[in-house]
Amino acid sequence: MSKLYWIETWGCQMNEHDSEKMAGTLLGLGYDQATRLQDADIILLNTCAIREKAEERVYSTLSQLEHLKKARPETIIGVTGCVAQMSGEQVRERMPFVDLVIGPRASSRLPDILGKLKDHRGIVDTTLYQDSIIRGQDAIRRAPGKVKAFVTIMEGCNKTCSYCIVPTTRGREDSRPLEDILKEVESLVEQGYREIEFLGQNVNAYRDPKTHDGLDILLYRAGEFAALDRIRFTTSHPLHLSTKIIEAMSRVKAACNYLHLPVQSGSDRILRLMRRGYTARKFRDKVAEIREAIPEIALSTDVIVGFPGESEEDYQATLDLLEELRFSQLFSFVYSKRPGTSAATMMDEDEDKTKVSRLMALQAAQREIQADIHRTMLGRTVEVLIEGPSRKDPREVAGRMPQNIMVNFPGEGLRPGDLARVLLTDATPVSFRGRLIRGPLERRIPARSRNARSAFGA
Ligand code: 5AD
Ligand code: SF4
Repeated sequence: MSKLYWIETWGCQMNEHDSEKMAGTLLGLGYDQATRLQDADIILLNTCAIREKAEERVYSTLSQLEHLKKARPETIIGVTGCVAQMSGEQVRERMPFVDLVIGPRASSRLPDILGKLKDHRGIVDTTLYQDSIIRGQDAIRRAPGKVKAFVTIMEGCNKTCSYCIVPTTRGREDSRPLEDILKEVESLVEQGYREIEFLGQNVNAYRDPKTHDGLDILLYRAGEFAALDRIRFTTSHPLHLSTKIIEAMSRVKAACNYLHLPVQSGSDRILRLMRRGYTARKFRDKVAEIREAIPEIALSTDVIVGFPGESEEDYQATLDLLEELRFSQLFSFVYSKRPGTSAATMMDEDEDKTKVSRLMALQAAQREIQADIHRTMLGRTVEVLIEGPSRKDPREVAGRMPQNIMVNFPGEGLRPGDLARVLLTDATPVSFRGRLIRGPLERRIPARSRNARSAFGA
């Protein structure tokens, strides 16, 4: 019987995709996926360190695993991802039964590390390898049944935002050769994937290592795959989102009318303390440029409230910016102090209560904005890429508009990966209900994958 693995994943899309890569590596080493954690021979916790809460969750899961480790000492327990990178040896100081601590850019070394485990336990590898993203595409095990596939295009972040742990955990920027990326996209399209999401901590800074071609060229080239319906990319930085990239988004048909553009604050004083490199004015100008080029675009953003020293006035400036720019989605967080970041040394005297109530008020305002935006969209016919049965009512199907908003509707016979034309009939602040206008849409060309292996097992 082959050995079994279990991977638990927290955090962002990059982490999700890293788990797919580690799963692929383990399959290559002869492991199978366990159906229950307690059956696994190796358990990896792929962790996130962005806020203290995410980090705490890792340690509480680890304390639960201690019992399992006592009962079955041969089970390998590993911590990977951003907490592994941030805390290294300290993970084993707190939880000595942990066998492996592997940073995100050392995870490609998993086969070697597992080989060494035979002789001794307690391996810590937090080397920030430069070649960590250059690996064979066969070694990726994507979750089955998904219409969208993640593709890494760059890794690391050279920015120095004062609150952020990511440059520490993910190291310096490193881009993958453009031709390698396109080969991976081609193979994914052949497998039946309809949507690709390019990933990197700062995708706008993508540069082919030899030709220096940027994200704009990558979008044009990926847009040439006729059977690829949708291209997304994340995460963008407002300073690096060039006019060339915006132009490519507007010209490439498959590039979705959606962009996640984190603003973090509406106050120039706070933006300076955060070391974001732009003012609120500059951010507004960038948004105006995007909306001028792509009128249908939906923009989402991230905001941190309660940054050290944030005054009522600073907070109000953020609220005003949200009211003015009207994002389609907001991801908002209370500031969390991260060890080793420069903001960690700043005086932070505001009470948690104030910060939490600011967050609540911000989210309430955003719900109103979204409800409003959605109301104005009722009666429109949109294109929906079906993802699967609706969560609310399994007799219905759910899919996304290019703007990244979910639509639920009765769509008998429609399958994941089908495109449908849907009339928007009802709205909530987070999704739509709709009515099917016509069966599966004609694609630019029929799926190349008819005879090839389908991503959906058909
Ligand atoms: N505290 C709270 N939120 C943070 N983020 C990043 N670092 C912190 C922190 N220290 C938020 C930012 C970022 C998102 C992924 O997480 O808004 O864009
Ligand atoms: Fe979490 Fe950031 Fe690491 Fe992603 S890159 S796992 S969000 S800390």
